[in-house]
Amino acid sequence: MLEHDVMIIGGGLAGCRAALEIKKQNSSLDVGLVAKTHPIRSHSVAAQGGIAASLQNVDPEDSWKAHAFDTVKGSDYLADQDAVEYLTKEAPEVIIELEHLGVLFSRLEDGRIAQRAFGGHSHKRTCYAADKTGHAMLHELVNNLRRNNVTIYEEWYVLQLILEDNSSQPPHENVIKEVKGVVMFNIADGGLKVVKAKAVMFATGGYGRVFNTTSNDYASTGDGLGMCAAAGLPLEDMEFVQFHPTGLYPVGVLISEAVRGEGAYLRNSEGDRFMENYAPNQMELAPRDITSRAIVLEIRGGRGIHPDGSAGGAYVHLDLTHMGKEKIMSRVPFCWEEAHRLVGVDAVYQPMPVRPTAHYCMGGIPVNTDGRVRQNATQLTEGFFAAGECACVSVHGGNRLGSNSLLECVVYGRRVGRAIANYVINRKMPEVDEKKYLEEAQKRIQDLLSQKGDLRINSLRQNFQDTMTEHCGVFRTEEVMKEGIKQIQQLKAKYSQIFLDDKGKDWNTELIEALELQNIMIVGEIILTSALQRQESRGAHSREDYPTRDDEKFLQHTLASYSADSVKVNYMPVVITMFEPKERKY
Ligand code: FUM
Repeated sequence: MLEHDVMIIGGGLAGCRAALEIKKQNSSLDVGLVAKTHPIRSHSVAAQGGIAASLQNVDPEDSWKAHAFDTVKGSDYLADQDAVEYLTKEAPEVIIELEHLGVLFSRLEDGRIAQRAFGGHSHKRTCYAADKTGHAMLHELVNNLRRNNVTIYEEWYVLQLILEDNSSQPPHENVIKEVKGVVMFNIADGGLKVVKAKAVMFATGGYGRVFNTTSNDYASTGDGLGMCAAAGLPLEDMEFVQFHPTGLYPVGVLISEAVRGEGAYLRNSEGDRFMENYAPNQMELAPRDITSRAIVLEIRGGRGIHPDGSAGGAYVHLDLTHMGKEKIMSRVPFCWEEAHRLVGVDAVYQPMPVRPTAHYCMGGIPVNTDGRVRQNATQLTEGFFAAGECACVSVHGGNRLGSNSLLECVVYGRRVGRAIANYVINRKMPEVDEKKYLEEAQKRIQDLLSQKGDLRINSLRQNFQDTMTEHCGVFRTEEVMKEGIKQIQQLKAKYSQIFLDDKGKDWNTELIEALELQNIMIVGEIILTSALQRQESRGAHSREDYPTRDDEKFLQHTLASYSADSVKVNYMPVVITMFEPKERKY
């Protein structure tokens, strides 16, 4: 059996930042990090527009408090304000730290880090590396892991969280379950390993692939979320799915908000800048929930655009043509390239076709501000931490502001790393029944390989993703969601009919897809059920049958617990310390 003091699952920014911090705090700690892709291909690498911090390089009026207010208002007052305060206060320091690690940020004329406008932010505070910010950050962090002797397991897939009753450690009054390690699968040769650890941290990213159109990579299948739910831990605020307004049509890949931050316009089939009717003060830089709804309403209203330019089509235009080639190529070259390569549009001269695309998970594994995973509203889980997109701390509440997610990864990656380094000092290595877990995992894989059905993974997954998109999209109603739940139950029942062509051990990516589909299905069901129960509109959760926010009943976090035959929903209070909820106007 393998063992490490700390085992981190996920090779993106949050996981890498935490690993680095643990080694900085105590270089004698043995840290393992497992990623299902090579770490520099983790989805953080695709983050484009930037990372927010009130550095005041461009706008001396900015402050952490203004950043905190924008974040809480953007969240539709569902964010926990103690967590937001920490996020925004620490932001300038973590940016300077990244710079010292070697991250190549774009610069102002005087050499200081450049900052641009972003949706929902009242000041220019988004630091960036052109439109490849995640790429610049992740490469430096991964290099630093290697320098600091973190053991990296790349292209291993984690199958199971080892969660047991808290019997082996001195019992803590408020902790009744304990995480002891994980079971993982080497994609290269099919080998299974049990890993035990004094602390396990999930930094497994999001679930964009639950939907049929997403900005996320193929690996974003909600594995960490699915594993937690399957182990019996609740997930928080899963109904809050961020649809990024400008997914490139029809492929859905991200066209960064930075493009609008640098001055691009959204136009409908009549050529109008329609955001004037939805957010007259912020226009194209309104928060994402509002901008995505505006685009969908334009399309529904017959002012979408067809490829021949006529009205009534499925997308709107993102118009950069007034910005000029020099600005486009220096500030957002990757977005230009994507549109050129994928849909043949030269954005210097032609508008890009865009519509909302599933982008980000505001909810996730419930954690306290040290990243310790909650077992329910009042109790924690021993030995288990989470940070980044898979975690819900909750700094984004009902709607995340662009450029706050990279920030969350590094601020909370660092904080959780520190908390873990302290935590493991007093914890002994847990006992794990390796044989039992190996046998269970072998059986699970063997059962899948020997299924005798006639259904292809791809068709079942596609049907599931289509159902989620159709029944739990930008706008929602009870009737549509109930029908969605019925349909996904039917699709779940068909899982036993899938068959795998590849029975081999080496690089059996079909097997990985089958395992990922189990997580996609669990996560999708939790999203839909949580959304059905929240009878109000808040942030990205927009109910046409309950069009207003209802603070009396729903100024609360959802905690949804999964079992094979149902999802049960409870609620947990929101932390309000600085800003009383009021109506959001932009
Ligand atoms: O639009 C973007 O560049 C995305 C940024 C984010 O999601 O924070």
